[in-house]
Amino acid sequence: MSLTRQLRDEHDQIRRRLREWDDLLVELERGVGTFAALRLKEEAQWVCSEVLPHLDAEESVVFPLLSEREPEGSVTLQRLSDDHAQLRELIAQLTELAWKRQLGTATNLQAQELLKTFRWRLLDHIAREDGALPPLLLQTLSADEDAELLRRWQEQIASAPSQPVPSPTLTDLNGRIHAWLDECLLRHLEALTALDLEGAKNWWRKFADALIAHAQVEDSVALPFTNDWATSLKAVSRPFLMPSTKALSECCDR
Ligand SMILES: [Fe+2]
Ligand SMILES: [Fe+2]
Repeated sequence: MSLTRQLRDEHDQIRRRLREWDDLLVELERGVGTFAALRLKEEAQWVCSEVLPHLDAEESVVFPLLSEREPEGSVTLQRLSDDHAQLRELIAQLTELAWKRQLGTATNLQAQELLKTFRWRLLDHIAREDGALPPLLLQTLSADEDAELLRRWQEQIASAPSQPVPSPTLTDLNGRIHAWLDECLLRHLEALTALDLEGAKNWWRKFADALIAHAQVEDSVALPFTNDWATSLKAVSRPFLMPSTKALSECCDR
């Protein structure tokens, strides 16, 4: 096994997993809410536990040595590092979107667009690496150096935490949705105070949609063993929310 082979094998594994996203994209297109939300969370966890350590290992094991030994490859290495920065930004967005979708505060369309963008950028990046890194490694490293780098690479991958970005606990998730609900309500009240009735209506709708989605998600995903509580919340929230939305609409339509 050489470092080049290790890199190619990991790239192939990433490609195979990304091909499986076709199904997830179809599910999101069809609007199969709960199942797609769970798949999205799984894929975000996979990205954090498999793709991020791969990027980290390239940045700490491969890029520094190549940039030191092959100054003429600096433009290529800079481009690959820039790709990594963009990918990390998309991974952060994906992680956030996964928990928001689970709570019903992000749409299937948003998830679809982000998954497509991330997949396209990652495939484009590893294709660029497959073209650029093997020749640079072959002309730079002796067999012993290659073996040493491969050992460091494998050590780093093995010591990477399985999920560097922790999956939020149920308590975290509830805290986040409650913070979002608080913000919607606050913005609604601010708009009312400013006599911005259209803004107040929009924030109230967001609040109502998020609260109902939250109750539905808790019903089916987050709190499967406390259905009585979730049912009670829905029973309480619907009569409370609907007349208010209607009253605001009427008010704004006048
Ligand atoms: Fe990379
Ligand atoms: Fe790579």
